[in-house]
Amino acid sequence: MLRISARDFLFWKKKQLSKGGDQESLAFLLDSVGGISTKDQKFIGINPEGNLYLKKNLDFLESNWDNHLQKSYPIQYICGITFWRDLRLIVTNKVLIPRPETELIIDIVIKIFGKKSQKLFFTELGTGSGAISIALALEYPLWNGIATDIDQDALEIATKNYKNSSNQSNLKFFCGHWWTPLESFQGKLDLAISNPPYIPKIIYERLPKEVKNFEPKIALLGGDDGLKHIREIIQKAPLFLKEKGWLILENHFDQGEQVKKLLIENKFTSIEIVNDLSGIGRFTIGRYK
Ligand SMILES: C[S@@+](CC[C@H](N)C(=O)[O-])C[C@H]1O[C@@H](n2cnc3c(N)ncnc32)[C@H](O)[C@@H]1O
Repeated sequence: MLRISARDFLFWKKKQLSKGGDQESLAFLLDSVGGISTKDQKFIGINPEGNLYLKKNLDFLESNWDNHLQKSYPIQYICGITFWRDLRLIVTNKVLIPRPETELIIDIVIKIFGKKSQKLFFTELGTGSGAISIALALEYPLWNGIATDIDQDALEIATKNYKNSSNQSNLKFFCGHWWTPLESFQGKLDLAISNPPYIPKIIYERLPKEVKNFEPKIALLGGDDGLKHIREIIQKAPLFLKEKGWLILENHFDQGEQVKKLLIENKFTSIEIVNDLSGIGRFTIGRYK
């Protein structure tokens, strides 16, 4: 551990913030990489006496901060972690940083199935960091789930996140293209969830650089109209869902009506477009017949 006086540390911190960025991101870096908890950071702000002990020296922390400011490198990738619902998840640039708006998917599930649900079988297609599946597996210890992704590197991170978050064994991870890893579970699923890549090509090209330059393209790009993957997931869903099984999809802000139409064409019922907290039709849900 490296010792530094609280006053020198506060001076350094002020200098970093004068370069740009927000206080919250710097506090996150100092906590997760520097080893100074946000609580201690607040405390010395009020009482700048004594010393602090750092896990990394200030030059190292400064170069990370500069990387964030100058290259728009997401602070979550620099720190190697993010927080999602009550999970602390490892993230690298092999996985999408799970977004706060996606957290609502878990609330949608709870609204459909209640808090104390009987044993069910669910899948998540395109699990990335594992956020959705892990939250569900923890919320419903009686359920069994399979989380899939086409990217083996992503699955390794998801598996680590599951092990770090729980000592349960009700979630498994399979690699492959959408429904392919689930061939042997045809007609057996009560619930399928996906937040697939849904950004239309033209919008992808114009994404902010902190997203486009760092987050995996395979996690974002949904073909020319953004619906390439959603279409495939919906078309094959009837093969895998039980009768009355649920499909819950996240989609782009303006895709709700088109996703609804796809669900109707594929014989889904009870279709609903669910708004996120900003009033955007972010999720489309339906039941197979
Ligand atoms: C938008 S990200 C969602 C990640 C995570 N579920 C979340 O909500 O944060 C989409 C995920 O789908 C995966 N993916 C992309 N194409 C796929 C395919 N053809 N089959 C399976 N997974 C795929 C990506 O690797 C990525 O992890």
